[in-house]
Amino acid sequence: MGEFSEQIIHEANRLAVEDPRRNLGIALGQLIGTESPTKDTILDVLAARQQFTPEHLPPLLFSSLQYLALKDGKGLSSFGTMNSEEWKKYIENAVNVHRPDLTKLLKERNVQSFIIRRYFPAKLLARVAYGDSPVSMLDIGASLNLGLAAVAGDNNGEMFNGIELNEVPKNLYDGRVNLASGVGVDLFEPDKEWVKACIWPGHEDERDTIERASASLKDRTPQLSFRKLDALEMGEVPDLQDRFDIAVASGMIYQLQPELKAKFLETVGKVIKRKGFLLVNDYPPEVNAKDSFTYSTEVIPIVDGLLRQPLKILKAESPFYRKSRYPRPFVATQWRGTWEPNSSFAWPESWFC
Ligand SMILES: C[S@@+](CC[C@H](N)C(=O)[O-])C[C@H]1O[C@@H](n2cnc3c(N)ncnc32)[C@H](O)[C@@H]1O
Repeated sequence: MGEFSEQIIHEANRLAVEDPRRNLGIALGQLIGTESPTKDTILDVLAARQQFTPEHLPPLLFSSLQYLALKDGKGLSSFGTMNSEEWKKYIENAVNVHRPDLTKLLKERNVQSFIIRRYFPAKLLARVAYGDSPVSMLDIGASLNLGLAAVAGDNNGEMFNGIELNEVPKNLYDGRVNLASGVGVDLFEPDKEWVKACIWPGHEDERDTIERASASLKDRTPQLSFRKLDALEMGEVPDLQDRFDIAVASGMIYQLQPELKAKFLETVGKVIKRKGFLLVNDYPPEVNAKDSFTYSTEVIPIVDGLLRQPLKILKAESPFYRKSRYPRPFVATQWRGTWEPNSSFAWPESWFC
């Protein structure tokens, strides 16, 4: 446990001083480095989740504490500014008062986000590739399963609050996606309160975005269903095989163990029709400090189950990622990106029949 506690402190110290995760990490590391109720609780959790690394624990603890506080209707404004001593007291008190609930959350949950504007590229791809024709879509790691609902509900970008679309040619995304059938899969059932609890200080407006999206999209997409399923098992489910034109993996692949990525891609090949696409939103490889609002998007054509050369359609820019290889940048409030028009226009007409 001593080494685990030191690693947590080491990871926390790598974060920027103003990052709210830093003080929580230091506090947690110190608490489990000495005899304390928190140490006993964490030992109990680790016995159940042996795959946990020191990187996993502080964010999950944070989300669990925030979930319990939100459930109690408590104000959370201090979470962003507490120093490590204050965090220590807060954690010890929560362990004291909420031990069974806290332990259950730490044993059963994972940190989950849902960011609706990450689905804009999927809308763009569906319109560019399929126009008004019916399209069948799969959302892998669907979280609240509202992403495809937004894709289907959008007319000209209004569902993707926060993205300024003025430099993306409007004809590329204008109009409705004719979503004939949609399936979202995730390891966890959609749980809005949990996903809201996973939002860090400084991004609180994301909670309102989730509430608004969920209210406006409720019951609007009966053709969209949800399955609680490990993505790696999708290929064995008969009614998912050869079913989809587009699969979306948004902010999901980075959560897989690296050695499982090849198996995941092979599985996607089984659920895509003879011709289709996998759209991947993920952190650009050069980004080493993760920023959950910064993504680049690749579209991977799939033919007869085989993945072709990825088309890089949108590229994130961030403080960590400044390459602007593509000529026509568009700027979003939270998400800076560039659009590569040729990647869509060069796709052969026959592809989409
Ligand atoms: C960071 S969230 C992204 C959610 C959403 N796609 C978005 O872009 O906002 C990643 C999601 O992938 C899910 N996930 C991770 N591994 C998975 C797997 N093997 N099978 C299914 N879902 C998985 C997580 O539970 C989580 O809901």
